[in-house]
Amino acid sequence: MKKELFNDAENGDIVSAIKNRLFSKEIGKSIYYQEEVGSTNTVAKELADAGKTSGTLVVADFQSQGKGRRGRTWVAPKGKDIFMSLLLRPAIKPEQASMLTLVMGLSVTQAVNKHLGLNSQIKWPNDVVADGKKICGILTEMKANANGIEYVVIGTGINCNTKEFAEAELTHATSLILLMDQEIEREALLAEVLAIFERNYNTFLQTKDMTNLLDSYNSLLANAGREVKISGMGDELIGEAKGINERGELLVKDKKGEIKTVFTGEVSVRGVYGYV
Ligand code: BTN
Repeated sequence: MKKELFNDAENGDIVSAIKNRLFSKEIGKSIYYQEEVGSTNTVAKELADAGKTSGTLVVADFQSQGKGRRGRTWVAPKGKDIFMSLLLRPAIKPEQASMLTLVMGLSVTQAVNKHLGLNSQIKWPNDVVADGKKICGILTEMKANANGIEYVVIGTGINCNTKEFAEAELTHATSLILLMDQEIEREALLAEVLAIFERNYNTFLQTKDMTNLLDSYNSLLANAGREVKISGMGDELIGEAKGINERGELLVKDKKGEIKTVFTGEVSVRGVYGYV
Protein backbone atom coordinates (compact mmCIF):
# COMPACT_ATOMS: atom_id res chain seq x y z
CA MET A 1 0.00 0.00 0.00
CA LYS A 2 1.21 3.45 -0.81
CA LYS A 3 2.43 5.31 2.23
CA GLU A 4 0.48 8.45 3.04
CA LEU A 5 2.44 11.62 3.09
CA PHE A 6 2.81 13.23 6.47
CA ASN A 7 1.48 16.72 6.64
CA ASP A 8 2.48 19.71 8.70
CA ALA A 9 0.36 18.81 11.70
CA GLU A 10 1.60 15.24 11.97
CA ASN A 11 5.21 16.27 11.85
CA GLY A 12 5.11 19.11 14.28
CA ASP A 13 8.74 18.95 15.31
CA ILE A 14 10.63 19.06 12.08
CA VAL A 15 8.18 21.15 10.15
CA SER A 16 7.86 23.71 12.91
CA ALA A 17 11.64 23.81 13.33
CA ILE A 18 11.76 24.96 9.71
CA LYS A 19 8.67 27.17 9.92
CA ASN A 20 9.86 28.93 13.08
CA ARG A 21 12.90 30.10 11.17
CA LEU A 22 11.09 30.86 7.94
CA PHE A 23 10.63 34.45 6.85
CA SER A 24 9.48 33.83 3.27
CA LYS A 25 5.81 34.53 2.46
CA GLU A 26 4.71 32.05 -0.21
CA ILE A 27 7.70 29.72 -0.57
CA GLY A 28 7.49 26.92 1.99
CA LYS A 29 4.05 28.04 3.18
CA SER A 30 3.04 24.40 3.07
CA ILE A 31 5.72 21.85 3.98
CA TYR A 32 5.52 18.08 3.59
CA TYR A 33 8.12 16.17 5.52
CA GLN A 34 8.71 12.45 5.31
CA GLU A 35 11.53 10.60 7.01
CA GLU A 36 12.22 8.44 3.98
CA VAL A 37 11.12 8.81 0.37
CA GLY A 38 12.23 7.47 -3.01
CA SER A 39 12.91 10.95 -4.29
CA THR A 40 11.54 14.27 -3.00
CA ASN A 41 11.13 15.33 -6.64
CA THR A 42 8.81 12.39 -7.28
CA VAL A 43 6.75 13.22 -4.18
CA ALA A 44 6.55 16.89 -5.20
CA LYS A 45 5.33 15.87 -8.68
CA GLU A 46 2.64 13.69 -7.11
CA LEU A 47 1.53 16.61 -4.94
CA ALA A 48 1.52 18.84 -8.02
CA ASP A 49 -0.68 16.37 -9.89
CA ALA A 50 -2.97 16.35 -6.83
CA GLY A 51 -3.38 20.12 -7.23
CA LYS A 52 -1.17 21.48 -4.43
CA THR A 53 -0.32 25.15 -4.63
CA SER A 54 2.79 26.92 -5.82
CA GLY A 55 5.31 27.27 -3.02
CA THR A 56 4.67 23.79 -1.55
CA LEU A 57 7.87 22.20 -0.26
CA VAL A 58 8.79 18.53 0.21
CA VAL A 59 11.59 17.68 2.63
CA ALA A 60 12.97 14.27 3.59
CA ASP A 61 15.68 12.82 5.79
CA PHE A 62 16.59 10.06 3.37
CA GLN A 63 16.09 9.27 -0.30
CA SER A 64 16.30 5.65 -1.44
CA GLN A 65 16.16 6.66 -5.11
CA GLY A 66 17.59 10.16 -5.18
CA LYS A 67 17.91 11.45 -8.72
CA GLY A 68 20.74 13.49 -10.20
CA ARG A 69 21.10 15.19 -13.55
CA ARG A 70 21.76 13.33 -16.76
CA GLY A 71 20.25 10.08 -15.46
CA ARG A 72 22.63 9.83 -12.51
CA THR A 73 21.69 8.94 -8.93
CA TRP A 74 22.04 11.16 -5.87
CA VAL A 75 23.20 9.04 -2.98
CA ALA A 76 23.59 10.38 0.57
CA PRO A 77 23.29 8.94 4.08
CA LYS A 78 20.23 9.31 6.31
CA GLY A 79 19.64 12.33 8.51
CA LYS A 80 22.67 14.32 7.46
CA ASP A 81 21.89 16.51 4.49
CA ILE A 82 19.17 18.64 2.95
CA PHE A 83 16.94 16.99 0.36
CA MET A 84 14.14 19.26 -0.74
CA SER A 85 11.87 19.83 -3.70
CA LEU A 86 9.94 23.00 -4.33
CA LEU A 87 6.75 23.02 -6.37
CA LEU A 88 6.16 26.17 -8.44
CA ARG A 89 3.49 27.16 -10.92
CA PRO A 90 5.06 30.13 -12.72
CA ALA A 91 3.36 31.89 -15.63
CA ILE A 92 6.34 31.45 -17.93
CA LYS A 93 7.04 29.57 -21.15
CA PRO A 94 8.48 26.02 -20.94
CA GLU A 95 11.75 27.20 -22.50
CA GLN A 96 12.21 29.70 -19.67
CA ALA A 97 11.92 27.07 -16.92
CA SER A 98 15.56 25.96 -16.94
CA MET A 99 16.50 29.44 -15.70
CA LEU A 100 14.78 28.58 -12.41
CA THR A 101 17.61 26.15 -11.77
CA LEU A 102 19.99 29.09 -12.03
CA VAL A 103 17.83 31.10 -9.65
CA MET A 104 18.00 28.28 -7.09
CA GLY A 105 21.77 27.86 -7.57
CA LEU A 106 22.24 31.57 -6.97
CA SER A 107 19.99 31.43 -3.89
CA VAL A 108 21.78 28.46 -2.30
CA THR A 109 25.14 30.15 -2.90
CA GLN A 110 23.98 33.42 -1.35
CA ALA A 111 22.35 31.61 1.59
CA VAL A 112 25.44 29.50 2.34
CA ASN A 113 27.66 32.58 2.19
CA LYS A 114 25.36 34.72 4.33
CA HIS A 115 24.51 32.05 6.87
CA LEU A 116 27.91 30.40 7.26
CA GLY A 117 30.31 33.08 6.06
CA LEU A 118 31.70 30.86 3.32
CA ASN A 119 32.82 31.94 -0.15
CA SER A 120 30.86 29.42 -2.14
CA GLN A 121 30.36 29.94 -5.86
CA ILE A 122 28.17 28.72 -8.70
CA LYS A 123 29.45 26.20 -11.20
CA TRP A 124 27.18 26.85 -14.17
CA PRO A 125 24.51 25.82 -14.66
CA ASN A 126 23.48 24.30 -11.36
CA ASP A 127 26.14 23.19 -8.94
CA VAL A 128 27.31 25.11 -5.92
CA VAL A 129 30.98 24.68 -5.14
CA ALA A 130 33.25 25.69 -2.29
CA ASP A 131 37.01 25.19 -2.22
CA GLY A 132 36.68 23.83 -5.77
CA LYS A 133 34.35 20.99 -4.73
CA LYS A 134 30.62 20.44 -5.09
CA ILE A 135 28.39 21.06 -2.06
CA CYS A 136 25.00 21.22 -3.80
CA GLY A 137 23.25 19.82 -6.87
CA ILE A 138 19.94 20.84 -8.39
CA LEU A 139 17.56 18.87 -10.59
CA THR A 140 14.62 20.74 -12.12
CA GLU A 141 11.72 18.83 -13.64
CA MET A 142 8.68 20.24 -15.38
CA LYS A 143 5.24 19.28 -16.65
CA ALA A 144 3.83 21.29 -19.52
CA ASN A 145 0.76 21.05 -21.75
CA ALA A 146 -0.43 22.88 -24.87
CA ASN A 147 -1.20 25.96 -22.77
CA GLY A 148 2.22 26.11 -21.15
CA ILE A 149 3.71 25.06 -17.83
CA GLU A 150 1.56 23.10 -15.39
CA TYR A 151 4.29 23.00 -12.80
CA VAL A 152 8.01 23.05 -12.16
CA VAL A 153 9.71 21.08 -9.40
CA ILE A 154 13.14 22.27 -8.29
CA GLY A 155 14.96 19.54 -6.37
CA THR A 156 17.94 20.60 -4.31
CA GLY A 157 20.45 18.48 -2.43
CA ILE A 158 22.90 20.22 -0.09
CA ASN A 159 25.78 18.28 1.47
CA CYS A 160 25.51 19.48 5.05
CA ASN A 161 26.69 16.97 7.66
CA THR A 162 27.98 14.13 5.49
CA LYS A 163 31.63 13.48 6.28
CA GLU A 164 32.35 10.53 4.06
CA PHE A 165 32.12 10.29 0.31
CA ALA A 166 32.47 7.40 -2.09
CA GLU A 167 35.92 7.16 -3.62
CA ALA A 168 34.65 8.26 -7.01
CA GLU A 169 33.25 11.46 -5.48
CA LEU A 170 36.18 12.35 -3.26
CA THR A 171 37.95 14.44 -5.85
CA HIS A 172 35.00 16.72 -6.55
CA ALA A 173 32.54 16.61 -3.62
CA THR A 174 32.64 18.03 -0.11
CA SER A 175 30.22 19.11 2.60
CA LEU A 176 29.58 22.13 4.76
CA ILE A 177 30.62 20.31 7.94
CA LEU A 178 34.01 19.49 6.40
CA LEU A 179 34.45 23.08 5.30
CA MET A 180 33.26 24.66 8.56
CA ASP A 181 34.46 22.02 11.00
CA GLN A 182 31.13 22.32 12.80
CA GLU A 183 27.71 20.65 12.65
CA ILE A 184 25.29 22.44 10.34
CA GLU A 185 21.79 23.25 11.58
CA ARG A 186 19.85 22.13 8.53
CA GLU A 187 16.52 23.79 9.35
CA ALA A 188 18.07 27.25 9.68
CA LEU A 189 20.03 26.94 6.44
CA LEU A 190 16.98 25.61 4.62
CA ALA A 191 14.88 28.54 5.85
CA GLU A 192 17.57 30.96 4.67
CA VAL A 193 17.64 29.34 1.22
CA LEU A 194 13.86 29.63 0.91
CA ALA A 195 13.78 33.28 1.94
CA ILE A 196 16.53 34.24 -0.48
CA PHE A 197 14.98 32.12 -3.23
CA GLU A 198 11.65 33.91 -2.77
CA ARG A 199 13.29 37.29 -3.28
CA ASN A 200 15.25 36.12 -6.33
CA TYR A 201 12.21 34.30 -7.78
CA ASN A 202 10.11 37.46 -7.57
CA THR A 203 12.91 39.39 -9.27
CA PHE A 204 13.07 36.71 -11.99
CA LEU A 205 9.30 36.90 -12.55
CA GLN A 206 9.47 40.66 -13.25
CA THR A 207 11.27 40.01 -16.56
CA LYS A 208 10.89 36.20 -16.82
CA ASP A 209 14.62 35.98 -17.37
CA MET A 210 17.91 36.67 -15.61
CA THR A 211 18.17 40.39 -16.51
CA ASN A 212 17.89 41.69 -12.95
CA LEU A 213 19.89 38.81 -11.42
CA LEU A 214 22.71 38.89 -13.96
CA ASP A 215 25.20 40.90 -11.91
CA SER A 216 24.67 38.84 -8.75
CA TYR A 217 24.94 35.58 -10.69
CA ASN A 218 28.05 36.54 -12.63
CA SER A 219 29.79 37.90 -9.53
CA LEU A 220 29.45 34.43 -7.95
CA LEU A 221 30.29 32.41 -11.05
CA ALA A 222 33.20 30.04 -10.37
CA ASN A 223 33.69 29.35 -14.09
CA ALA A 224 34.21 33.00 -15.03
CA GLY A 225 37.59 33.59 -16.65
CA ARG A 226 38.40 29.85 -16.63
CA GLU A 227 38.93 27.39 -19.45
CA VAL A 228 35.92 25.10 -19.66
CA LYS A 229 35.04 22.05 -21.70
CA ILE A 230 31.41 21.69 -22.70
CA SER A 231 30.15 18.33 -23.88
CA GLY A 232 26.73 16.91 -24.64
CA MET A 233 25.69 19.46 -27.28
CA GLY A 234 27.24 17.96 -30.38
CA ASP A 235 30.82 19.02 -30.94
CA GLU A 236 32.81 19.53 -27.78
CA LEU A 237 33.52 23.17 -27.06
CA ILE A 238 36.61 24.36 -25.22
CA GLY A 239 37.05 28.00 -24.37
CA GLU A 240 37.07 30.67 -21.71
CA ALA A 241 33.82 31.13 -19.77
CA LYS A 242 32.87 34.79 -19.72
CA GLY A 243 29.59 34.78 -17.75
CA ILE A 244 25.90 34.25 -18.46
CA ASN A 245 23.54 36.38 -20.52
CA GLU A 246 19.98 37.38 -19.63
CA ARG A 247 18.64 34.06 -20.94
CA GLY A 248 20.93 32.18 -18.56
CA GLU A 249 23.16 30.90 -21.36
CA LEU A 250 26.87 30.57 -20.71
CA LEU A 251 29.04 32.74 -22.94
CA VAL A 252 32.22 30.95 -23.96
CA LYS A 253 35.03 32.53 -25.98
CA ASP A 254 36.41 29.81 -28.24
CA LYS A 255 39.95 29.42 -29.59
CA LYS A 256 39.13 31.68 -32.57
CA GLY A 257 37.95 34.42 -30.25
CA GLU A 258 34.30 33.92 -31.17
CA ILE A 259 31.71 34.06 -28.40
CA LYS A 260 29.49 30.97 -28.34
CA THR A 261 26.31 30.76 -26.27
CA VAL A 262 25.64 27.49 -24.46
CA PHE A 263 22.03 26.75 -23.48
CA THR A 264 21.36 25.39 -20.00
CA GLY A 265 20.21 22.03 -21.32
CA GLU A 266 21.69 18.65 -20.67
CA VAL A 267 25.27 19.74 -21.06
CA SER A 268 28.25 18.82 -18.95
CA VAL A 269 30.69 21.56 -18.01
CA ARG A 270 34.12 20.76 -16.67
CA GLY A 271 37.10 22.93 -16.01
CA VAL A 272 39.95 22.05 -18.34
CA TYR A 273 42.33 22.01 -15.35
CA GLY A 274 39.98 20.53 -12.72
CA TYR A 275 36.37 20.09 -11.68
CA VAL A 276 35.53 23.81 -11.89
C1 BTN B 1 22.88 16.78 -9.70
O1 BTN B 1 23.81 17.49 -9.33
O2 BTN B 1 23.06 15.83 -10.46
C2 BTN B 1 21.48 17.09 -9.22
C3 BTN B 1 21.22 16.45 -7.89
C4 BTN B 1 19.86 16.80 -7.31
C5 BTN B 1 19.60 16.10 -5.99
C6 BTN B 1 18.35 16.57 -5.33
S1 BTN B 1 18.18 15.92 -3.70
C7 BTN B 1 16.53 16.47 -3.63
C8 BTN B 1 15.92 16.23 -4.98
N1 BTN B 1 15.39 14.89 -5.09
C9 BTN B 1 16.05 14.15 -5.96
O3 BTN B 1 15.80 12.95 -6.22
N2 BTN B 1 17.03 14.86 -6.54
C10 BTN B 1 17.05 16.21 -6.03
